[in-house]
Amino acid sequence: MTAPTSLSQDELKTLVGQAALQYVVPGELVGVGTGSTVNKFIDALASIKDSIRGAVSSSEASTARLKALGIPVLDANDVRLLSVYIDGADEIDGNGYMVKGGGAALTREKIVAALARRFVCIADESKLVNVLGAFPLPVEVIPMAAAYIARRFESLGGQATLRLKDGQPLVTDNGQHILDVRGLTISDPLAFETEVNQWPGVVTVGVFALQKANVCLLGTAQGVRTLSL
Ligand code: 5RP
Repeated sequence: MTAPTSLSQDELKTLVGQAALQYVVPGELVGVGTGSTVNKFIDALASIKDSIRGAVSSSEASTARLKALGIPVLDANDVRLLSVYIDGADEIDGNGYMVKGGGAALTREKIVAALARRFVCIADESKLVNVLGAFPLPVEVIPMAAAYIARRFESLGGQATLRLKDGQPLVTDNGQHILDVRGLTISDPLAFETEVNQWPGVVTVGVFALQKANVCLLGTAQGVRTLSL
C-alpha cells in the first residue's frame, strides 16, 4: 500500500489498523488489543463484523468500543485458541520483542496473546527500536509489593514510579497498580521477562518476549511496511 508523504501519526495508525483486516480469518474469532492504534483496527473491524464470530478483548475499554460497534465479545475462558491477536506496542524491536502496557492493559493483553497462534503488531514507525528500554517499562504489581519491586528494579539500574491517575494510584482492570520503570536497557528481553516474572508481587511485566509479535505492520511515510519476525 502506498501512502502520500507527511501523514500524521494518527493517519499512520488508521493505515495499519485497516491493513490488519487482512489477517482476520472469516468465520472465526479475533483477539483484540488495547490503545489508540487498536481503536483504529476496531473501527475497521466493524466494516466486516458480519463475517466474523466476534472478538476476545484485552480491556474494558476495547470491550466497550467493540460492543458499541455491534461486535460480539466472548469471555477468554470460553475460547481455546484464536487464529490471530492484533495489538499495538510502545516499542518493538527487529525480533518482534515488545514493550507494552502504556495503556495499563498489559496483563489481559498477554493472556489474549497467549491464546493466539499469531500476534500481529500494528504500530507507527516511531515504535521501532534497536534495543528496548527507552519507553518507561510498565509493570503491573500487587499494591503491597510495589516498594519491594521498585527496589529490585533499582538494583538493575532502573527508577520505578507508581503510575497515577487524577493524583491517585491508577487501578487497572484487574484491581492492581502499575509501576513505570525508567533507565533500563533491555538487551536480552527473553531473559529479562523470565527473571522479572519470578519476583513476588509482579502480576505482569510489560516485556512481551515469550508472547512476541510474529508480524509487524509498521506505518511509514512510504506506506505500510510488513515485518515478518
Ligand atoms: C496498552 C498497550 C498499547 O498497545 C500500547 O500502549 C500502544 O498504544 P498506542 O497504540 O495508543 O500507541 O500496550 O496497554
